Amino acid sequence: MQETAAIRAYPFWVAWANRPRRAVGWTLAVALFVVGATLSLEGTATLGWRAVTRHTAQVAFPLFLAAFLASSIARLWPGAISRALLARRRALGLAFATAQIIHGIAIVIFASFEPTTFEIDGAFLGGALGFVFVVAMAATSNDAAARRLGSKAWRALHTSGQVTLFVIYAVTYAGRVAENSRYWPGPLLLVAALGLRLAAAAHLTLRSRTLPIE
Ligand code: HEM
Repeated sequence: MQETAAIRAYPFWVAWANRPRRAVGWTLAVALFVVGATLSLEGTATLGWRAVTRHTAQVAFPLFLAAFLASSIARLWPGAISRALLARRRALGLAFATAQIIHGIAIVIFASFEPTTFEIDGAFLGGALGFVFVVAMAATSNDAAARRLGSKAWRALHTSGQVTLFVIYAVTYAGRVAENSRYWPGPLLLVAALGLRLAAAAHLTLRSRTLPIE
């Protein structure tokens, strides 16, 4: 009885990520629905697959922000909701990786229509590095891998991965806004996210300076 009440206590927007597998399953379902809907609206040739690459990246973006900000939100606004978010950080990270892998598959299919996609330039190398981090972070998002890696190396991998992905988003959306002002929410969300991360880090430093040493 009590268990049912505890599960019901979470609204769906939190409960979909109660378990990593559940979060991955939901993300896969949403991403595949987005792929199907985009292809049926835009066609299955170059235009359609270009739109699929864009829309799959858009599915991944809010998941990245949620995983990127979970600990900062919990630090700045301690409470039941922020604790629930923090407890699901691993699930959110794996959900992001799932959406990002669908973005990768869409890119490979899009490249068969538009071979210049795989031309090796700075943007391609940056994106490829992003995928390397996504795979490495997903592969180490379990207790056994984290133990094997050790907390220092695990933290170094996940922090540098987050920073790299943040920079890729910043560069991509800055370029988008320069071409089309409708893209302003992307950079705005990134600036707000950076502000929250810095505020949470400052909050921690301040607390460690002001708390008495036992
Ligand atoms: C070599 C690796 C990658 C390639 C070849 C690639 C390719 C593409 C392509 C072809 C598009 C659609 C461009 C258009 O609209 O004309 C796109 C969009 C996008 N990609 Fe990737 N991508 C890569 C890696 C990544 C990574 C790692 C991230 C995330 C960190 C990412 C985030 C985005 C975003 C945010 C968009 C724009 C979505 C929008 O228009 O709202 N990409 N990518």
